[in-house]
Amino acid sequence: MIPARVAVLISGRGSNLGALLDAAEAPGYPARIALVLSNRPDVAGLELAAGRGVAARCIDHRPFARDRAAHEAAIHAALTEHGIGLVCLAGYMRLLTPFLVSAWAGRMLNVHPSLLPAFPGLDTHARALAGGVKLHGCTVHLVTDQMDAGPILAQAAVPVLPGDTEASLAARVLIQEHRIYPKALRLYASGVPGAYDGAASLASPLPPLAFTP
Ligand code: GRF
Repeated sequence: MIPARVAVLISGRGSNLGALLDAAEAPGYPARIALVLSNRPDVAGLELAAGRGVAARCIDHRPFARDRAAHEAAIHAALTEHGIGLVCLAGYMRLLTPFLVSAWAGRMLNVHPSLLPAFPGLDTHARALAGGVKLHGCTVHLVTDQMDAGPILAQAAVPVLPGDTEASLAARVLIQEHRIYPKALRLYASGVPGAYDGAASLASPLPPLAFTP
């Protein structure tokens, strides 16, 4: 099987990128990280990618001002130029327009730091603490035009412990993100279970990849 060429889109630290890079080195992994794009310059994730010999580029959103479509056209051009087959959003802190979402429908994954559909959007850990939930976690899902609402590929749960702060909870969740994102990409890139859209996924649901109470 020829590994899928994957682009990872980041905005910062890139710890999920690191987990994907590590996983993709394993023999037989069905994807390889061929490109890293950041919308911010000078972020740790770009250095990480370059240090691992992966093509790494910043396509800064700021020169595009409010022209999101033009920024996304530049991203799409870079993805095409590098022969990318799958896109992984990993801490990419820009809302996408329908243009990029539809261009990559079924070929774009995201990791989100909550047990979706709970806590879509930002500040998930603070909201989980404020809500008093006992379980929190993370989700890998396909990106659709509804924010943080696409078909779920994998989830992992963690306990919320007495005395947790936003930082301690985020750290516990992040460990699970690093476990499930490479697993979800492995399954998705190898075509298991083959289709995640519409009736096909309802007829043949993917069992959860990980559940860590
Ligand atoms: C992760 O918690 C991810 O779920 C969220 O942003 C964070 C990015 O972390 N969307 P990193 O850049 O992968 O370290």
